[in-house]
Amino acid sequence: MINTSVLNADLANLAAEVAKIPSSDGVHLDVADNHFVPNLTFGLPVVESLRKHVALPMDIHLMISNVDSWAVSYAEIGCESVTFHVEASNAPIRLARQLRAAGAKAAMALKPATSIEPYAELLPELDMILLMTVEPGFGGQAFLDLCLPKIRRTRELAKARGIEIAIQVDGGINEETIARAADAGADTFVAGSSVFSAANPDQMLQSLRALVP
Ligand code: DX5
Ligand code: ZN
Repeated sequence: MINTSVLNADLANLAAEVAKIPSSDGVHLDVADNHFVPNLTFGLPVVESLRKHVALPMDIHLMISNVDSWAVSYAEIGCESVTFHVEASNAPIRLARQLRAAGAKAAMALKPATSIEPYAELLPELDMILLMTVEPGFGGQAFLDLCLPKIRRTRELAKARGIEIAIQVDGGINEETIARAADAGADTFVAGSSVFSAANPDQMLQSLRALVP
């Protein structure tokens, strides 16, 4: 499954940009607050407005502090999947349960330097784990191969517990890196600049998909 990040698209024409990627499995929306990450993008009102123009599922990636106060609102406006960072949440179990109760898939993100092992017991509470493959905040950064062992360990932890969970990777996914992430155990991919910098974004999605076994 590939969710396309619009972070490096034309942010003043979001609905038109999303119309360029009809074969995407979802729209990945990066909410940044200039506090958790050193970038400022958009928030709830923009996502709520975009909702009316977009039929694709919305995959919200909250790169914000104080996420316990904000995340559920995104579920309540109908976003299909809401991801919070474990580094920003004071109560990740409560938050995951609130997201599911509000009808969204609950997802938890880890920055590259955060280990998965302390959170192994949380996996049943989650529909998806997002493993960042760049330091969060900006599109267009290079994929960090040092994240591959963690992807592998996350898949093994889930398997050992008999848990079906999506493992999403985000950052630097392109034609050169996607197969390595898939081989390590990722099954859900965020692609931003590789898609929107292509002459034909929708065709690039299909090329990326063809590289996943
Ligand atoms: C980065 C964001 C990503 C970003 C991906 O912090 O979370 O979703 O937009 O962009 P690319 O694919 O260009 O790395
Ligand atoms: Zn993201």
